[in-house]
Parts: sequence; structure tokens; C-alpha cells
Amino acid sequence: MATVADVVVESGSDRDWVDEAVRRVEADANRSADTHLHVLPVPADWGVDVYLKDESVHPTGSLKHRLARSLFLHALVSGQIGPHTTVVEASSGSTAVSEAYFAQLIGVPFVAVLPRTTSPEKIALIERYGGRCHAVEHGAEMYARAEELAAECGGHYIDQFTYAERATDWRGNNNIAESVVAQLARERHPVPEWIVVGAGTGGTSATIGRYLRYRRMPTRLAVVDPENSAFLPGWASGAPDYATGLPGRIEGIGRPRMEPSFVPGVIDLMLPVPDAASIAAVRHLHDRTGRFAGGSTGTNLWGVYTLVARMIAEGRQGSVVTLICDGGERYRHSYYADDWVAAQGMDLAPHTARIERFWATGEF
Ligand SMILES: Cc1ncc(COP(=O)(O)O)c(C=O)c1O
Repeated sequence: MATVADVVVESGSDRDWVDEAVRRVEADANRSADTHLHVLPVPADWGVDVYLKDESVHPTGSLKHRLARSLFLHALVSGQIGPHTTVVEASSGSTAVSEAYFAQLIGVPFVAVLPRTTSPEKIALIERYGGRCHAVEHGAEMYARAEELAAECGGHYIDQFTYAERATDWRGNNNIAESVVAQLARERHPVPEWIVVGAGTGGTSATIGRYLRYRRMPTRLAVVDPENSAFLPGWASGAPDYATGLPGRIEGIGRPRMEPSFVPGVIDLMLPVPDAASIAAVRHLHDRTGRFAGGSTGTNLWGVYTLVARMIAEGRQGSVVTLICDGGERYRHSYYADDWVAAQGMDLAPHTARIERFWATGEF
């Protein structure tokens, strides 16, 4: 009778395929330049400089290009993706666009489970990279449906909400924080007072918060949160399972529940931002600078204006950094469409007036 020692299971055959897949992902990174850090032209005499880290210039148009690369590498080297694995994700769109790109790069099928309200532009981008879209009525259904679909086809649920904070190297490896700090090195205020970001998975804020602590920098991390999101009340109350169950209107950020990759312990401050204010801010950015960005960038800017005004009022000089998370093309039909804004019952005028007064006076 055969003993355990006699039975040798050879799993090596996929190793060559994994080697090639990792080479392709690394080659993609090697072909890509780092994203720019733009100066936002606020009045110089304020003594506060504002910078925009432009993640919309990644090959797949958003900050999610970095995350998707990390998630695919993490799953490949963990033996979770092989030559015949269908990769499945639950996403509001941006991550799925970037993941469809990497699935195509290594030659595996990709399925995105996303809310029916996801912008048609994002769906078209996922399909352009060969991905298939599976719509669900409510965002909250995405996770379970993605898990089911992966089980049904023997695929892999790559699960950004769980793995975003694990797959990204917070020590460096050109993560977004290391890139920003390097690009500020020759500025008049090279160590920023604040970095301001939003949270969808929470991966970006977790990476930045950990990196700042790891490098022992005095810079503080502020996270902005849109309406209906669980993050701010969950962070403020210390309740790890806080949930609102409500949908959000600013694509990519704000969640109906606290997510596993949201790390409250690295966040110094959270700021609530009305959805109409986010849209007013991103439209104002376009009018003032020509930069065309998505709603979550507007949410970031509202947070920046709040903190810059506070620094000016307290007579403090320094720099503040935030992100352009993705491009505005994806939102022509929504945030940049007056009929969509009206149908949402939003009045942008009071927020726009407040932003214009800020740019004129430094008060917010
Ligand atoms: C447009 C946009 N902005 C911001 C974020 C937030 O990033 P994170 O998931 O790292 O918290 C996302 C996430 O999906 C996004 O799509």
C-alpha cells in the first residue's frame, strides 16, 4: 500500500506561467513614468503651498492602477492566479478598469461585479480591456455576488476591500506616499503639514498613514468623507462594524460599511464633505486651472481648503498635498451635467460662492 511519502504532487507546471505573468506586470511598471505633482496656483503670499498628485495620468486613468498592480502581484505570488483562473472583483468601477487591464496583460478572463449606476464610460473601459461586467442593484450586494461568481467558475475573487491594505507596500517601493515626499524635496516646504485623501477601500489612506509613521514624519493625514458613508462615523465612534447601508454619490469613495482595508488608527482627522460641495469644487478646479477631474478629487479639495484656511488663520506656513484621483471624462454624464446635478436635488451655487471667496481671501 502506497505511503504518504510515495505520493509526490508536482505543482510546478504553473510556475513558468507565473514567472512570465510577473515579468509582464513588472515590465508594465518599468515602462510607466511616475505621476506628476502639480502646484495649485493659490496666492503665494498666503505662505501655504498646495500640491495635486495627478493619478489620472496612469495608463488606466486612476489611482487604482497602483492598487491593481499590487493586487495582481500579491495574488500571483500567492499562487491564487494561474493560467486558467478567472479573476473576479467587486468594484465601483475604477479598480475594475485597472484590473481588467492587468488581467488582459497576463492573459486571464476578468469579471467585474458593479452597481447598476456605474458610469457607462467606466463600463466601456472595462470591456475595452476584455473584461465582462455583471451589474447588481445595490453596491452592498457586490461582495457576496463576486464571491459566488468566483466559486461558480472556480475563479479567484481578488477582493480589493480586504487586500488593498495588505497588497500595497507601506514601507516604500514607490508607493504613492514615497513618490509625493520625493517630489516635494526641492520645494520651499518639503515636509507637508497635511496630506488629504478620501477612502473607498481605505488602501490609499492606510498606505500614506503607515508610511508617514514609518518615516517618522510630522505630516498629518486627513481623510475626507462624502454623504451616507460609514467611515467618518465609524472612525469617530471607534465602532469597527459601523454601517449606514446607504449608497454614495461620489464614485470611488465613501462606503455603506467599514471596510477591512480602512485603518482608522493611522488617520489624524476626518472631515465630512457635502456631495454638492465636492462637485462644486471639482467644477471650480476645471474653470480655474483647466484640470478635468472626478468627484472624489472635489471632495479632496474641499478638505484642503478647510485646512489651508485654518493654517492661514493661525498664521502657519507650510504645504498641503492631495490627489487628483481620476479624470473627468468618466463623469461628463453626471458631475459635469447640470441636468444630472439638478435631478439629484443639488444646489452647487452656495458652495461655489464659498470657494471663490476662499480663493480671494483665504477664509473658508
Ligand atoms: C476615483 C476614486 N477616488 C478615490 C478612491 C479611494 O481610494 P482607496 O480605495 O484607496 O481608498 C477610489 C477608490 O476606488 C476611487 O475610485
